[in-house]
Amino acid sequence: MRVLVIGSGGREHALCWKIAQSPLLTKLYATPGNPGIASLAECQPVDSSDPSAVLGLAQRLHIDMVVVGPEDPLALGVSDALARARIAVFGPSQQAARVESSKHFAKQVMEAVGVPYPISADFSDFTSAERYVLALPEGRIVVKADGLFHGKGVIVTSSRQEALTVLERMLVHRQFGAAGQKAIVEQFLEGDERSYIALCDGERTVLFPPARDHKRAFDGDRGPNTGGMGVIAPAIRAEDPPLDAVESQIFRPVLQELARRGSPFRGALFAGVMLTNEGPKVLEFNARFGDPEAEALLPLLDEDLLPLLYAAATGSLPARPLRMRAGACVSVVLASDGYPDHYDAGIPIEHVEEAVQISDAFVFHAGTALRDHQLVTAGGRVLCVTGTGFDLAAAYRVAYTAAEKISWHGKQFRRDIGASWW
Ligand code: GLY
Repeated sequence: MRVLVIGSGGREHALCWKIAQSPLLTKLYATPGNPGIASLAECQPVDSSDPSAVLGLAQRLHIDMVVVGPEDPLALGVSDALARARIAVFGPSQQAARVESSKHFAKQVMEAVGVPYPISADFSDFTSAERYVLALPEGRIVVKADGLFHGKGVIVTSSRQEALTVLERMLVHRQFGAAGQKAIVEQFLEGDERSYIALCDGERTVLFPPARDHKRAFDGDRGPNTGGMGVIAPAIRAEDPPLDAVESQIFRPVLQELARRGSPFRGALFAGVMLTNEGPKVLEFNARFGDPEAEALLPLLDEDLLPLLYAAATGSLPARPLRMRAGACVSVVLASDGYPDHYDAGIPIEHVEEAVQISDAFVFHAGTALRDHQLVTAGGRVLCVTGTGFDLAAAYRVAYTAAEKISWHGKQFRRDIGASWW
């Protein structure tokens, strides 16, 4: 099978790494890819946000299946263009991807099928939002941009005044662009957060075990929200709901509702869930694998990923659980100094090969580039180092031993990924 993976981050490197192990694969391409992916796939420079450009590439390369990694191509209709040309695509249609690209739409879907989510209200004008916020009790309030904003559209504020400042930036000063034309003001939930990811074929779902993301930039969950600074998997405490309860209470109803609306979801559906005293509540859906969740979950998958992706893309997922390895993964993101705000690029990265040599460690490239044969930084999240082990403590030791080997000027990473789990 000839496969094209779209994307250039750590998630896509992990997808390529796993797909490359498949005996069914005859040729792997990626667009645009990155230097890590280039060791596994032939990288093709195409504008992956342009559906006709992606379709043209897939046709020219005689691709059997396209795997879409990030959300932007999905929201722009890349899957629809491929599906119209009868090319199998793992990644939902533009309509189904609205579970991520419009938080308002996601709430409508959840409302229709009784999936619990935090109390919230949507606003297009600042005056109404202000009135609503001033009537809330003082404390933490979540403000979200309705649309996609590079993973930075969710702000957890600590007071009504801070929430109003964010809303003013969003609704008056338009600092979140089109994504912030509508703002969501949401109840802050206490609880323990999980990332659940399911492969979906339009009708059936099959779930990975939950992962736990660490979204804040600094140790102790301090600092600004990021796309994710590290993940552990599996993240299961004794009191957690069983996986089949999460599947039947959240994933199946949402999948059925999307199909009923004429937009069956084929791809990876990600639910960010808060486990509260009142039960699980959905904070967000994403229409793709999580990043860095994929870097921690895929090394635990104990079967060929390629036929699973193809089955999801073509509506024929097997009715059985995924085969997962025993043990655990800890993934640590190495980021540029200043991420998630301003950071420099083009800084030489050293000693990646030494980290790769460590047994049970994997180094996935996220924001890297090659400049005159030298690996340099090219993004906020630069590398994702995954350690595997017989338990989380062992995986943590492997991940941090490898993470410490790699160096560049301004390397920033959390030292407490998963540390509260043993
Ligand atoms: N790590 C969270 C996300 O992928 O959106």
